[in-house]
Amino acid sequence: MTQPIVEVHLTDADLTEALRTDARSGLTASPKWLPPKWFYDARGSDLFEQITALPEYYPTRTERALLESVAGAIARTAKAEVLVELGSGSAAKTRILLNALTSEGPLKTYVPQDVSATALRASAAEVAAEFPGLAVHGVVSDFTDTLGTLPRGGRRMIAFLGGTIGNMVHDERAEFLTGIHDVLEPGEQLLLGAGLVLEPDIMVPAYDDAAGITAEFNRNVLRVLNSRLRADFDPESFRHIAHWDPDNEWIEMRLEATRDMSVTVADLGFTARFARGEQIRTEISAKFRLPGLDSELRGAGFVTEHAWTDPDDRFALVLAARV
Ligand code: AVJ
Repeated sequence: MTQPIVEVHLTDADLTEALRTDARSGLTASPKWLPPKWFYDARGSDLFEQITALPEYYPTRTERALLESVAGAIARTAKAEVLVELGSGSAAKTRILLNALTSEGPLKTYVPQDVSATALRASAAEVAAEFPGLAVHGVVSDFTDTLGTLPRGGRRMIAFLGGTIGNMVHDERAEFLTGIHDVLEPGEQLLLGAGLVLEPDIMVPAYDDAAGITAEFNRNVLRVLNSRLRADFDPESFRHIAHWDPDNEWIEMRLEATRDMSVTVADLGFTARFARGEQIRTEISAKFRLPGLDSELRGAGFVTEHAWTDPDDRFALVLAARV
């Protein structure tokens, strides 16, 4: 097998600096907020893997089954020589795509991109061992500001799976999709995975499971601040909330203070005060409708080539070409 290459464009120091900036703005704002990217330290990534196996959390298994049924069709339309996967994480679902793109298409190179160097090195090595003919060229970066550092050469398809596009509000998605448009050549493609709008009684339990794993995942962001910025949050004094916002069509995760408290963030030299009942917004997970996705893609300079959905219309995979 060919050894994978892993390029690092984001160091631990960069991450700490970004976390400091986010924690300072989010915890001094009113209402308070923290961005969801900070859930994913080793413990948070592990909790997320557990979430994907929960009976209530349908997105991952729905997307996987959908990928299994349409990967051949994607491979035949895509003709990609390079697959770039943004936020590849454990790359569990990518295998399905790689199988199809190598057996039914000309794929030569896989470029996984992730913020976590540990996750990336592990998955790059596994994929390289599983696909001996494939060159694996990993990139450790933050996809929101380092799209320009992705390797070039060969007809590319950028995959952004899992529904992570839902972590962005409308304007952020427009900027993100335009950024992808700008690094692609005409005819190169984007494969986007997105959760669809469903009845709240299906969506809400997916973010508020009976076993309390999502609650732990949510509180983990406080533990990350404790360990990375020497904060003294008591995570057990925050209650997990998953709320469906029907106007914005997104699930909002929040942490609610169950008592008045002061939290000191030693590395930032400030104390945040919480009143009992006060909430921190920790994540939005927007859900989509196919016409809306199509128009957002068009607005960013893409044309939808095909949109596939699962039999229950819970999740969509959209293949779009850069105009
Ligand atoms: C990884 C962003 C797709 O929004 O469903 C799961 C994260 N948050 N449970 C999602 C998540 C709570 C997940 N994404």
